[in-house]
Amino acid sequence: MDMIPVFFLAWILNSGDAFNDFPSLISSNASMAVVIDKAFFDNKAEYRDIVKNIYNFITAITREDIHMADIDVHVFRGTKIQNLRDFTVLLSVASCYQMWSLHDAARKEDLIHLAITDQDCPRLPDSEGVSIPLILPGKELSQIFFDIRAVDALLWNNVNILHDDTFDRDTIGRVTKALSISLPNKKFNLVSRALFTFKHDDSERNRRYHIKDMLQSFHVEQLGKCFLVIVTIDTAADVMEVTKSLNMALPDSQWFYVITDSVVRNSTNITSFVNLLTEGSNVAFIYNVTDSDTHCNVILKCHIQELIMALGNGLKMSLMTEVELYSHMTDEEFELVRLNKQERRQEVLKSIKIKLIEDTFSTDGVCSKCLFWRFASAITWGNFFVHGKNVAHLIESGTWMPVLGANFTDVLFPHVVHGFRGIRVPIATYHNPPWQTISLSNSGEKEYGGLLFDVVKYLGKKLNFTYTVLSPMANQTVQFTHNETVANVVLMSTTREMPSQIIDMIQEKKVLLAACAYTVNDRGKEHINFTLPIFMQSYSFLTAKPGQLSRALLFTEPFTKETWACLAASIMIMGPILYLIHKYSPSSTKTSGLNSSWQCVWYVYGALLQQGGMYLPHSDSARLLVGVWWLVVMVLVATYSGSLVAFLTFPNTDTAMLTIDDLIAHKSKLTWGFPNGSFLEEYLKNSDEEKYHILLKRAVIHNATQQVEMIEQIKAGKHVLIDWRSTLRFLMRSDLLLNKGCAFSLSTDQFMDEPIAMIIAKDSPYTKIINAELHRMHESGLMNKWIAEQIPVKDKCSDSFSNQAVEERKVNVTDMQGIFFVLFMGVTGSIFLLCCEFCCHKRQVSKRRKLIQPFVS
Ligand SMILES: *[C@@H]1O[C@H](CO)[C@@H](O)[C@H](O)[C@H]1NC(C)=O
Ligand SMILES: *[C@@H]1O[C@H](CO)[C@@H](O)[C@H](O)[C@H]1NC(C)=O
Ligand SMILES: *[C@@H]1O[C@H](CO)[C@@H](O)[C@H](O)[C@H]1NC(C)=O
Ligand SMILES: *[C@@H]1O[C@H](CO)[C@@H](O)[C@H](O)[C@H]1NC(C)=O
Ligand SMILES: *[C@@H]1O[C@H](CO)[C@@H](O)[C@H](O)[C@H]1NC(C)=O
Ligand SMILES: *[C@@H]1O[C@H](CO)[C@@H](O)[C@H](O)[C@H]1NC(C)=O
Ligand SMILES: *[C@@H]1O[C@H](CO)[C@@H](O)[C@H](O)[C@H]1NC(C)=O
Ligand SMILES: *[C@@H]1O[C@H](CO)[C@@H](O)[C@H](O)[C@H]1NC(C)=O
Ligand SMILES: *[C@@H]1O[C@H](CO)[C@@H](O)[C@H](O)[C@H]1NC(C)=O
Ligand SMILES: *[C@@H]1O[C@H](CO)[C@@H](O)[C@H](O)[C@H]1NC(C)=O
Ligand SMILES: *[C@@H]1O[C@H](CO)[C@@H](O)[C@H](O)[C@H]1NC(C)=O
Repeated sequence: MDMIPVFFLAWILNSGDAFNDFPSLISSNASMAVVIDKAFFDNKAEYRDIVKNIYNFITAITREDIHMADIDVHVFRGTKIQNLRDFTVLLSVASCYQMWSLHDAARKEDLIHLAITDQDCPRLPDSEGVSIPLILPGKELSQIFFDIRAVDALLWNNVNILHDDTFDRDTIGRVTKALSISLPNKKFNLVSRALFTFKHDDSERNRRYHIKDMLQSFHVEQLGKCFLVIVTIDTAADVMEVTKSLNMALPDSQWFYVITDSVVRNSTNITSFVNLLTEGSNVAFIYNVTDSDTHCNVILKCHIQELIMALGNGLKMSLMTEVELYSHMTDEEFELVRLNKQERRQEVLKSIKIKLIEDTFSTDGVCSKCLFWRFASAITWGNFFVHGKNVAHLIESGTWMPVLGANFTDVLFPHVVHGFRGIRVPIATYHNPPWQTISLSNSGEKEYGGLLFDVVKYLGKKLNFTYTVLSPMANQTVQFTHNETVANVVLMSTTREMPSQIIDMIQEKKVLLAACAYTVNDRGKEHINFTLPIFMQSYSFLTAKPGQLSRALLFTEPFTKETWACLAASIMIMGPILYLIHKYSPSSTKTSGLNSSWQCVWYVYGALLQQGGMYLPHSDSARLLVGVWWLVVMVLVATYSGSLVAFLTFPNTDTAMLTIDDLIAHKSKLTWGFPNGSFLEEYLKNSDEEKYHILLKRAVIHNATQQVEMIEQIKAGKHVLIDWRSTLRFLMRSDLLLNKGCAFSLSTDQFMDEPIAMIIAKDSPYTKIINAELHRMHESGLMNKWIAEQIPVKDKCSDSFSNQAVEERKVNVTDMQGIFFVLFMGVTGSIFLLCCEFCCHKRQVSKRRKLIQPFVS
């Protein structure tokens, strides 16, 4: 009953990929196809002998050495094989080309491909087969390069091959070919290739002369910086000596020395080369350590035997695993669980490899131990700083053998791949915010921060180093960090001075670089060099914040003087016109309030204030006039009240000084200045523009001791400070935090760019690679991000200022004082008029008394 689900499951599991229809080793013997290529053999007799005897040879081996697993052998005569579907293994003895075309067929059917081929043949991929090139001693060089490329250890896209004329054309030609043909299954990226030969001479002096002659005229820019030097051991030393003297062994170049005769001269020890390695160079060696006593046995049959034995061993192990598995489960389960053809190929190949390695290193192996080469890589980066002297050393990075090919235990050029290899290099710094800061953490550890350390940390990640920091002024700096007053900020935030201890450390090569911001200049040009600029500083100037204007007469603001005059005039004119029209209109009656020009003026004025006269004229003509006047009044009043609201809401400030022209226009009222030693001075001197000359001529140079007074003067609006925009911003922000208010305003004008960079020793080999990384940081936008984080770009002061204006603005008494004053004037005026009227009245009364009045009844 539970059979059906199991089969169903099997069907589902297998329907995804090829059905596992290949029999297990338990149910059928492994089968091997043997292909022997006639073209592989130079003499016919050997070929015929092999073909005739190979079957017996293989069965003899399997019978003798493998007791559990049998191999069904099928020998093909030609190389045209149609179908390999039913085989487990392909054993080919064929030329390189044939081997690869057979491999295409074998790979399709997941066959284990064991191949014996001729030299200069790219090896089969580890996961698909094992190929053994038959190499005669002395001819192995080109095969070594095929094998290096097969494991992707040498990814050069250009190569310059240097060799002396002791090597024959054939050797060099084959090496060149090994480097420059494309391999199956590999990306090919060699772009250029150049070949240089120099004359070999017996005397060391002449040899060096020839090498120098060749390298001196070398066009590194066009030919690239990857060098392959094929030489004997003494010439290798000469080439290294010359590259050292010509300063060609730099971090961005790679030198690969092939030393062929290290055994012949009995000097397998290549340790003596370490003295010729320069700091920061990338050098690797491959050298011949073949034991000259061993006899090299390059016999086809021996290699076939070696392979078959390893294969038998692998199949036996695989069979044992299957038997073990089978004993624990039912047939159906076993069919599901057992390895498919591809997985079994992997398993068997792994044990074949292990067997071959064992064989090669055991003294009684099948074939004698033959050619043996070693790779060595120089560790040169950072030694100088770490040990205080140039102590490079060599590490073993791999081996090469004909049967196993190249085996790398480390990368060939460790520094090209791993940079400084995680070592700890010393760097110098001092406290100079916001560029570089030193502070104490709660646990008492020193912490380093600031823009420069953002850069250095990233540089460390990219070039694979950590750092220890040397700080000459450690004792002074810690005090500063807890007491940053405004004056301190201005004092310290300078890149024009550098402590002399730091320059000394750079000069004595105690540090890789100084993580200090320093203006690029010509001082100390003999001792130090600059990296790529990290930041460009532009100059601006700082003025007092423009004051608010008096708002006493705010209620008059909405209209200009002309408008007010016009308004007054129209009231004065409208009164009499209304009176005349009213008076001469036939239909008019005597209405009080419009009986004189003066009354009409009051009437018009009342209408203007929307108080309306108590009476309307009776005639239509006068009414039309009044009506039109109301219309005018409506427009005037709406305009006025709208504007008044706006004027009440927004503060009424003085115009700010934003450009140099503004500044120069105010030259009679204020002074300006910049810090002593500023690069601005030089820049202004060399400028062509007239305004900069005026700026320089009237400028005061600030004394570092007078910072506090100077800042007070700026606040009072009597002085203007010209400095870096970032410093001024910093100052503004510190002041904002300290005094809770904005006292400064920054100009919009920016002039002159001052490059800020780190310093590095003048002849440091690392300048170029550090610059390349800095360039990348600029291009990727990282630098801008850090700058934005460390140095406030937003003008906080003006921001908060305008926000405050919109949100918190309330109309206060001072804003209203003008209109109250008018009220007061009105009251006073009317009291005065009242007095006048009393006087008039009295006089009239007394006049009337003097007159004798006739009595009229
Ligand atoms: C494997 O080969 C041997 C000898 O050639 C034979 O006796 C044996 O039956 C074969 N086994 C299978 C499963 O075919
Ligand atoms: C490496 O050394 C062996 C043994 O001395 C020698 O037979 C072989 O020719 C050398 N290889 C080269 C490329 O010179
Ligand atoms: C090579 O060195 C061995 C010892 O390591 C020494 O016995 C032999 O004489 C040396 N051969 C030559 C040619 O110097
Ligand atoms: C190699 O030579 C150096 C001196 O040049 C010596 O100190 C070192 O012990 C030698 N190494 C071997 C393995 O012989
Ligand atoms: C490579 O060398 C290492 C160390 O010598 C060894 O353990 C490893 O088995 C070798 N691998 C091959 C594929 O030769
Ligand atoms: C840094 O160097 C160490 C030591 O060689 C290496 O293990 C590590 O992978 C390297 N890291 C990077 C990112 O290259
Ligand atoms: C720094 O202070 C320590 C003790 O606090 C002192 O030993 C050391 O000499 C000082 N260094 C300098 C450069 O003044
Ligand atoms: C900070 O510095 C000022 C002078 O610049 C000084 O008067 C004050 O005492 C210092 N405060 C502390 C806490 O060190
Ligand atoms: C700068 O300060 C020093 C001492 O603090 C003083 O001697 C010098 O006169 C000052 N210079 C100016 C231009 O004020
Ligand atoms: C500016 O500094 C230099 C030395 O750095 C000094 O000689 C000069 O007197 C200073 N000028 C002023 C105005 O303080
Ligand atoms: C400084 O470094 C740059 C960039 O690598 C280089 O071109 C220049 O020659 C160096 N200057 C000195 C004085 O070493």
